[in-house]
Amino acid sequence: MKPLRVLTGITTSGTPHLGNYVGAIRPSVRASLRPEVQSFYFLADYHALIKVGEPERIQRSTLEIAATWLAAGLDPDRVTFYRQSDIPEIPELTWFLTCMAGKGLLNRAHAYKAQVDKNLAAGADPDNDVSAGLFMYPVLMAADILMFRAHQVPVGRDQIQHIEMARDMAASFNHLYGPHLVLPEAAIEDNVATLPGLDGRKMSKSYDNTIALFGPATVLRKQIAAMVTDSRKPGEPKSTEGSALFDMYRAFASAEETRAMEQAYAQGIAWADAKQVLFERIDREIAPMRQTYEQLMADPGRIEEILRAGADKARQIASPFMQTLRQAVGLRSLRHSAAPADRAGGPAKASLPSLKQYRHDDGKFYFKLIDSDGQVLLQSLAFDSPRSAGELVARLKQGDAAVLDSHGDHLEPVSDPSRLAQALLALRRAADSAPA
Ligand code: TRP
Repeated sequence: MKPLRVLTGITTSGTPHLGNYVGAIRPSVRASLRPEVQSFYFLADYHALIKVGEPERIQRSTLEIAATWLAAGLDPDRVTFYRQSDIPEIPELTWFLTCMAGKGLLNRAHAYKAQVDKNLAAGADPDNDVSAGLFMYPVLMAADILMFRAHQVPVGRDQIQHIEMARDMAASFNHLYGPHLVLPEAAIEDNVATLPGLDGRKMSKSYDNTIALFGPATVLRKQIAAMVTDSRKPGEPKSTEGSALFDMYRAFASAEETRAMEQAYAQGIAWADAKQVLFERIDREIAPMRQTYEQLMADPGRIEEILRAGADKARQIASPFMQTLRQAVGLRSLRHSAAPADRAGGPAKASLPSLKQYRHDDGKFYFKLIDSDGQVLLQSLAFDSPRSAGELVARLKQGDAAVLDSHGDHLEPVSDPSRLAQALLALRRAADSAPA
């Protein structure tokens, strides 16, 4: 079975709430148990620095979120569970991608644009409170994803644009340096509930309507008791439609329990009783995890150990992959360096790939690109006229990789795309540095 690599991160800027649990943590833990899935879950603490300037809060949140994942059943032996800032290869890849990301593309990112719009609405300078970190947020996120060649990234709808941008950067990189990066896809799980908050809007830190996931049971009960309902009296039939209480119940209950609650609504259950049933149902799922959570929180050293082991595992992938990427972009050891390409007639010429145009027995015209060691990197199909073959040859001599896309139907399938990309790059560099 071919593994499906799934990766997601949570920014370490707050305390996990019920909405995080239902929307992200619970489905991720479940997905990690599927045999064909290889999961990468991480604490996005570099991302947290973009919006949080309080060191204590970052550290606290990192601890809480790590403990939450583990208490919710994530098995660190089964998945790769790590802290972003333990992987120095991620900021390195961020730089490579920074050089691929169009500024115009980043100008369109929602989080950045929202701040600019806010400034404009207030008549302020558009750059007010915009750090370069906020602007670069999608690039760091792309590095997170592309480093581990993730196929799928489960995220909320607000993050789809970031995944599209990661694809864009990966495609530019591949176009220039060969097919090293996997283009990821956003996985939006439609059957995962968006949990309503205390006021009925989506539960979210930004609305200040959240219920902490592992707060004391007494607080959970009080918060549920304070949830907004309509003014229908006990005995009056109630509508499940638009009832935050009901939606929250459904996010925790089985289908059978949900049907029973529907009936109770129709039969006029009192709001106070419905709230009690809701509290008990949530607490039944949460209580055992809360206990594990508290044990973990009391032993931060153990969490640190788990995260370090996760970082070792992650770096076993990231470190060699980064080596490959460094090679690809030309950050290489000088020991086996090609001599400068602009010394005509010197050894450099001999090491450049070459293009051969020829006529075959069938009377048609062909060309091929041959590496310095004789390997055929690109073979054309038949052309009727020497002119049209010659045009492409001329463009390829300049290292113009766009030919591969635009004239793919005149070329045989490429067997070693990464070597081909390097050969074209070498040709381009040679052409660029040739005397005009
Ligand atoms: N930006 C995400 C959020 O705020 C967190 C995140 C950082 C992330 N890097 C990621 C999510 C990579 C998925 C993949 O929710």
